[in-house]
Amino acid sequence: MIIKRIFLFFVIALILLASVGCVEKFTCSVLNCKIKSGEDITFFIATDPHHLSKKTYDNGKAFHWFLNSGDGKLLQYTDEIIDAFTLDIEDSKPNILIIPGDLTCNGEKESHLEMAEKLKNIKKLGVHVFVVPGNHDIENPWARNYFGDEMIKIDSITKEEFVEIYEPFGFKDAISRDSHSLSYLAAPAEDVWLLMLDSAKYKRNKVRDAPEMGGEIPSKTFNWIRECANLAKENNAQIIAVMHHSLMDHSEVINEHYTIENSQEVIDLLLDCDIQIVLSGHIHLQDIKSYKRDNKNIYDIATSCLIAYPNQYGVLKFSPEKGFDYATRRVDVYAWAWENSIKDRNLNNFNKYSRDFFRQRSYDKYYDTLLEISKFSNEEMKAISETVAELNLKYFAGFRNELIHDIFPTKGFKILQDTAPFFIRDYVMSMFNDQKTDNNKIHIPIYSK
Ligand SMILES: [Fe+2]
Repeated sequence: MIIKRIFLFFVIALILLASVGCVEKFTCSVLNCKIKSGEDITFFIATDPHHLSKKTYDNGKAFHWFLNSGDGKLLQYTDEIIDAFTLDIEDSKPNILIIPGDLTCNGEKESHLEMAEKLKNIKKLGVHVFVVPGNHDIENPWARNYFGDEMIKIDSITKEEFVEIYEPFGFKDAISRDSHSLSYLAAPAEDVWLLMLDSAKYKRNKVRDAPEMGGEIPSKTFNWIRECANLAKENNAQIIAVMHHSLMDHSEVINEHYTIENSQEVIDLLLDCDIQIVLSGHIHLQDIKSYKRDNKNIYDIATSCLIAYPNQYGVLKFSPEKGFDYATRRVDVYAWAWENSIKDRNLNNFNKYSRDFFRQRSYDKYYDTLLEISKFSNEEMKAISETVAELNLKYFAGFRNELIHDIFPTKGFKILQDTAPFFIRDYVMSMFNDQKTDNNKIHIPIYSK
């Protein structure tokens, strides 16, 4: 009996040890980098494409309400914008496409399946594609069909389905995967590796009425990140980190639920790992912020939303001698519409259509907010909303400080200047004293120890 108990104790102890070993042990598959050391690399970064399948809506009241209560995303044209972007890819032939999340409008299964088809077409052009989920993509309780006057709840996808659907776009080629999240490490090039971080918090979405908007990098993932960084160093590779949420605040006023909750901890961790570039999305704002510690800089480059004005994406060029150069480029929807003989007037005059749509959504949003706080006359509310709508066009496109001084003579700006601080005033004033004036470009030299 005693022998039996001792035997059982050893068996349990062995099982426990083995399971702890499995969880904590860093595993990595054999390196097979397609891009060899010394080569220049071009990355395209397109974020928040929010694809919405045309099978989920018709031209009825419900969809119009949904579209017009939004933030300027052209959800009615995601197919066309992504297809036009694919034509840009065909013309420019980047090596790598990175999508930092919010691949779909609200995680609808149909939208995900169509998005994966679009990515397959991009992959066929010889482009390596890497994705991470955003807050809208997994277990989203907001997934809906919009037919007639009705919004009908439909299926979203689980995290397992996300991995299955997007398997060819990062997960299959990952050299290591985190056991606590959908984060993974990919080595598409010998010189530059991608640390694709899952910052979305979808685990509790099932029991919520809305998707969790905020994000974090789970502390359980920290050790895995350190192991990834060590492996990259052993192989003389630099790491670019990618996540949906912001690593650091992109605005003094709008940051709650945009910046990851454990921002400072993750900044310190990534700096310890000698990571200097993070590519993010989520805030839909074109913005670059940096943080310095002990002579080391880390940059969080937030690219604006692909399907909202000015419908741009990031182009990051790596050269082993010069380092990294980031610049934005607008999707050429007009060229795509022309090439495909599209007759839709909005697409044939896309830049104006997208600009007017975004401006109107901004105007409506601020006018409604001003109505609620009932502090101004109707005339004043209209003037302020005009000013903020005009400013937002440039602000979201990445322009700050003296590049937006032409707003000073407007009536709305003068009213804001003369009024006591409140959040709309604070938001507007924050645009004039920012870290960078033009957030559409930056040069980042090679990291040197
Ligand atoms: Fe998002």
